[in-house]
Amino acid sequence: KDAEEHLNKIIARHVDREGPLLPILHDIQADWGMIPEAAQPILAQALNVTRAEIYGVVSFYHDFRDHPSAPHVLRLCRAESCQSMGADELADQICKALGISWHETTADGKLTLEPVFCLGLCACAPSAELDGKLIGRASKGKIERLVAGVRA
Ligand code: FES
Repeated sequence: KDAEEHLNKIIARHVDREGPLLPILHDIQADWGMIPEAAQPILAQALNVTRAEIYGVVSFYHDFRDHPSAPHVLRLCRAESCQSMGADELADQICKALGISWHETTADGKLTLEPVFCLGLCACAPSAELDGKLIGRASKGKIERLVAGVRA
């Protein structure tokens, strides 16, 4: 739900301009590191274009990805409930530990770090997701252990 709200905010920011699709896609890409498939029908509806058109634009421009770049993806929740439970500090620690920042891939090419806006795990904040597996009450130690496991 947070994710949809965030998406709607991005849409609202640009919807009145001429040619809103590209600036919207740029903002989505900046925040999520990719254009999530789930965002595409919402965009289509908001802009009154077909899903095929959205898909066409996303796949035409190489800047836009609809999938992450490294084989492993760690997402850290950046939405409100998690922020109130120290998500920012956790993100700083993880960035430092991995030696990368948002949307970047570790030197071994194995892991990309992406932000996400609510994983639906707000009750166990701060939360994260590694290769699609949800991690509640995430801590630096917990994430480092799991990451070491998939990178090995
Ligand atoms: Fe919902 Fe982080 S705010 S999982």
